[in-house]
Amino acid sequence: MVAGKSVSRLGFGTMRLLPNSTWGNTPEPRVVRNLLAAAVHEHGITHIDTADAYGPHSVELLVAQALYPYPPELLIATKVGLIRPRPEQWVPLGRPAYLRAAVEQSLRRLRTDRLDLCYLHRIDPLVPLADQVATLAELADEGKIAAIGLSKVTPEQIAHAQNVAPIAAVSNCLNINEPDDPALEYCRNNDIAYVPFRPLALGALPPAKALEFLFGLGPHIAPVPATGNPEHLRELVAAAESWEAEPWG
Ligand SMILES: NC(=O)c1ccc[n+]([C@@H]2O[C@H](COP(=O)([O-])OP(=O)(O)OC[C@H]3O[C@@H](n4cnc5c(N)ncnc54)[C@H](OP(=O)(O)O)[C@@H]3O)[C@@H](O)[C@H]2O)c1
Repeated sequence: MVAGKSVSRLGFGTMRLLPNSTWGNTPEPRVVRNLLAAAVHEHGITHIDTADAYGPHSVELLVAQALYPYPPELLIATKVGLIRPRPEQWVPLGRPAYLRAAVEQSLRRLRTDRLDLCYLHRIDPLVPLADQVATLAELADEGKIAAIGLSKVTPEQIAHAQNVAPIAAVSNCLNINEPDDPALEYCRNNDIAYVPFRPLALGALPPAKALEFLFGLGPHIAPVPATGNPEHLRELVAAAESWEAEPWG
């Protein structure tokens, strides 16, 4: 389960759909849209991980172009709270008015009234964590977010956020080469979906080995490997196949 939806155990990360550091627009929008459509309609993936910072903005637009109208079982997770002044820069911005505006814009780009899962992409160290989470909680109360996630966080930060609002998912870096994250155990004990990012160590690991390690960590693990290559997508789906039969715990 991720954010209340019983999604496929293998998700799809959208960070590698653009060239050049996830910046700008793809020169091949039709190829990217076909890949997204294949992930969902051909391979049965029902967990798409995106962010307003990818592009920025252009990847959310591609997701909507490829997949809208969305099948009811599809969970689209997006993230707000990181801005991109330049290709190589990712800057946290967690001021409540900005987060509110960012969610409104993601709703428009994704052509929906409610984000299934909205992560705070990074905690802005210049804004109290409680204020950042409270803003997402207000948006959830208004019906604009179904579930709140956190990204790149410690157990202490998750616990702090939980004092403000329910946290449905945490996305941290985890793979067989970087296996130590104390948040993993915290999420297991607190019924929070754990979405490992960089699950293939940026392509350095054979998919089967990488996914076996992650799925073996428990039923709360929902990896979102990224690819822009249809053949690589097929390899990922094949590597995850036996785990799809294992029910969520
Ligand atoms: N929450 C956060 O802050 C955060 C941070 C980073 C990432 N993420 C999410 O996590 C997702 C995955 O992370 P990631 O993109 O950093 O790293 P990753 O999934 O570990 O690695 C992606 C790389 O693996 C390669 N690859 C994929 N399948 C392959 C295959 N079958 N054989 C060989 N190479 C393969 C891809 O190249 P090809 O395109 O050539 O296949 C791509 O360059 C992102 O898309 C994003 O949604 C979230």
